[in-house]
Amino acid sequence: MHPVQIAPGVYEVGVSDWNIRDFHGYSTDLGTTYNAFLVVDEKVALIDSVKKEFSDRLIANITRILDPKRIDFVISNHTEPDHAGSLERVMHRVGEDKPLFCSKMGHKNLPKHFSRKFNYRPVENGEELSLGRRTLSFIETRMVHWPDSMFTLLKEEGILFSSDGFGQHYAGPERFDDEIGERIMAPAKKYFANILLLYAPLIEKLIRQVQELKLDIRMICPDHGVIWRRDPGKIISAYRHWCRQEPEKKAVIIYDTMWKSTQKMAEAIQEGISAEGVYCRPLSLRTWHRSEVMTEVFDARAVVVGSPTLNNGLYPSLADFLCYMKGLKPKNKVGAAFGSYGWSGEAVKLIETELGEMGIPLIQPGLKVQFVPEREQLEACREFGRRIGAAVHAGISASS
Ligand code: FEO
Repeated sequence: MHPVQIAPGVYEVGVSDWNIRDFHGYSTDLGTTYNAFLVVDEKVALIDSVKKEFSDRLIANITRILDPKRIDFVISNHTEPDHAGSLERVMHRVGEDKPLFCSKMGHKNLPKHFSRKFNYRPVENGEELSLGRRTLSFIETRMVHWPDSMFTLLKEEGILFSSDGFGQHYAGPERFDDEIGERIMAPAKKYFANILLLYAPLIEKLIRQVQELKLDIRMICPDHGVIWRRDPGKIISAYRHWCRQEPEKKAVIIYDTMWKSTQKMAEAIQEGISAEGVYCRPLSLRTWHRSEVMTEVFDARAVVVGSPTLNNGLYPSLADFLCYMKGLKPKNKVGAAFGSYGWSGEAVKLIETELGEMGIPLIQPGLKVQFVPEREQLEACREFGRRIGAAVHAGISASS
């Protein structure tokens, strides 16, 4: 399926990583792609590369179009090794003296990844590079997803090479949004919730700035997943919406359990929340991967966290998840904590401390049950859930 011509003289020459299931802690249950792009004009430019282990396939894909030695310019939009990992091999084939364009931060970071010295050409925001009949323009996009990130625009075609921005961890036979349709929005949302959420305020500002430039963007080519050619405005609108982090009428219960007592509490709390007409599912960290849970947290108003007390502390899976969630800095949430315990019961307080450090106010004091919840305690869990459901309603109507 590679290379794919996406416009006259513009090719996608990257690779599909069908079998990856863990991308630095993110569950890639649909695989992913590392997209790279070849622009053939009077001069030839390669935009981004692929993970190191796929170097040979990238070179083979390029070779199906032209001899790699014909490449005049290499552009690195992002230093992370899933896009820059093949650069040593690429530069060896292209010619190590050829210019390697990157952002100013890229110029600081790229040399720390390679033992060889390359002909780095750091660019300014807005700087242009003529390919002859067409022009590349560089747009600095710090923190989408690293400080070195930038976008490259092929101006005359309105093609935006957006690096990690607007990507999805999805590998499939489809290469374009119109081939997959609405199904691509779920992977796009999961990607935003787990990779870009932390930078949502910056991304919102960036989108505003780019819109003020009134750039004619007719196609968006991210470095992961499908290309937005039918309706690039759709993913831009989705990003603007996601950046605002407006919660839905939804709560999420995240828990783990030792002897099923915390599970019983979680399920009773879910009944109480759902009885208030609020969408809610209890997600066991034994079953749900942290990145799937984070996607559920992303658009929920209430985050309800339950843990047994183990060795005077949190259950390790909860500690893992709370650390992950804290790093992504979700906004506009309220929270609550619960859990079972044997004799000391510190976990609930520890969860409340973590939620507090994330700026998540508590709806009500935490709920603890010693050993196994009985009928009255399960009813107390349902009531606990009903109060959460009411708080979700109140929060949603206050913000709408
Ligand atoms: Fe796809 Fe930040 O790398």
